[in-house]
Amino acid sequence: MALCVALPVDPAPDEYQEGRPLDLQVCKSYSPNLPSRVTATISKVLSMTMSVVLDVTLQTRHGPPVHRVLKLYDRRFGSCLREVDGDRVAPHTQENEAAFEAFVRRGMMPGFLRHRHERNDPEESVLPVGAREFLDEPNRTEGLAKYEAALWQDCSEHFECETKAYHRLAKLQGTVVPRLYAHVSLLSTTKLATIMPPEVAPYFEVRGILLERIDGYCLDNLTLGPLPKNLRTWQHIIQLAADAAYEINKHGIIMEDCAPRNVVVDGKSQTPRIVDLAQCMFRDEMVSEWYKSGWHEDEDWDPELEYWEQVSTTCNPGAIAAVIANRIHRKTGAKLEFRYPDWNGIIAEIRRRKEDAAAVERKTRHKASTAAR
Ligand SMILES: Nc1ncnc2c1ncn2[C@@H]1O[C@H](COP(=O)(O)OP(=O)(O)OP(=O)(O)O)[C@@H](O)[C@H]1O
Ligand SMILES: *[C@@H]1O[C@H](CO)[C@@H](O)[C@H](O)[C@H]1NC(C)=O
Ligand SMILES: *[C@@H]1O[C@H](CO)[C@@H](O)[C@H](O)[C@H]1NC(C)=O
Ligand SMILES: [Mg+2]
Repeated sequence: MALCVALPVDPAPDEYQEGRPLDLQVCKSYSPNLPSRVTATISKVLSMTMSVVLDVTLQTRHGPPVHRVLKLYDRRFGSCLREVDGDRVAPHTQENEAAFEAFVRRGMMPGFLRHRHERNDPEESVLPVGAREFLDEPNRTEGLAKYEAALWQDCSEHFECETKAYHRLAKLQGTVVPRLYAHVSLLSTTKLATIMPPEVAPYFEVRGILLERIDGYCLDNLTLGPLPKNLRTWQHIIQLAADAAYEINKHGIIMEDCAPRNVVVDGKSQTPRIVDLAQCMFRDEMVSEWYKSGWHEDEDWDPELEYWEQVSTTCNPGAIAAVIANRIHRKTGAKLEFRYPDWNGIIAEIRRRKEDAAAVERKTRHKASTAAR
């Protein structure tokens, strides 16, 4: 989340200490060499803001261990995920877990999940009630249970969003975004889940993804340290990152958390990858929302034009390149210029294409009706 400060990850909780092995159940594999169970050894904790992001090593059948990034959507941790007023983090405690477990066992989850997205006043906001708001409930136990339940739902949505995005971006994996190797589940939590009734088991599971590790540096770090001597090289790398964001837009995805922090530059090739797709909007989902809201009743309205209007106002490429350019300018006085997609041109082109198609259709209809006569 853009406004949340990434607190230092030290000390990592017991579960995620460096050197610790994590047993993973491979739920869906995109890698031919991956057995159904693997052990990932934590070599470094990369971040624990919205999710737990670990640099891990996997033992391969033949050959040396390989590095992967394991991203776990674990509601128990995360300085941004569990942030309540300002910079305070509401820790996951035994009391929280006991309250949550009782809530789940009482069969309260399906109803809670359904209703969280339906605010009392639908005009006011389409956003679900923020998890932290449940902590204000008068009954403390009930509040803690709902807080954990809401975080479970948030984590689950991040997992669904990110896996869907990687699926849609299959052709861009390995170049624009990292490769996705598998959907996984932490076996310790899966085991715990087997002693639970099957309908509640998923609420105690921690899911995750195994990604290609980009061995390099985060674009955010570029302006944190002393600036590199060759600004031309930077110009090129940042331009590639902005182009990568546009490429993702072309595949029907608008990123809601697009920032230099979510770009990692591969050190060897000096090419950037966009790494964080947990918060995205998908074109098909947006379109069906627009239809539900009756936007199509307006005669001039077109879903493709609407999508590109939204892409242009969000401006994912600018959220990377313009932000970095500002920082560099403030720091050194140097002005870097970047090329952005010509949004107006793109929209005009779509409009022209639609009008041509409509004209052709009118003509054929006219021909058909005169022929019939
Ligand atoms: N595949 C990867 N290779 C190398 N580093 C990575 C990779 N994926 C993530 N990272 C590093 O870990 C950090 C956190 O990852 P990511 O952004 O996916 O997690 P997040 O919890 O969604 O973060 P936030 O919501 O705070 O942006 C990234 O900023 C990046 O520095
Ligand atoms: C608070 O909620 C819990 C769980 O729903 C319930 O068992 C308990 O009686 C409630 N406490 C009060 C004081 O209402
Ligand atoms: C970014 O900089 C921080 C602090 O210097 C460092 O700990 C971290 O590993 C760097 N991240 C990357 C991906 O380069
Ligand atoms: Mg991120």
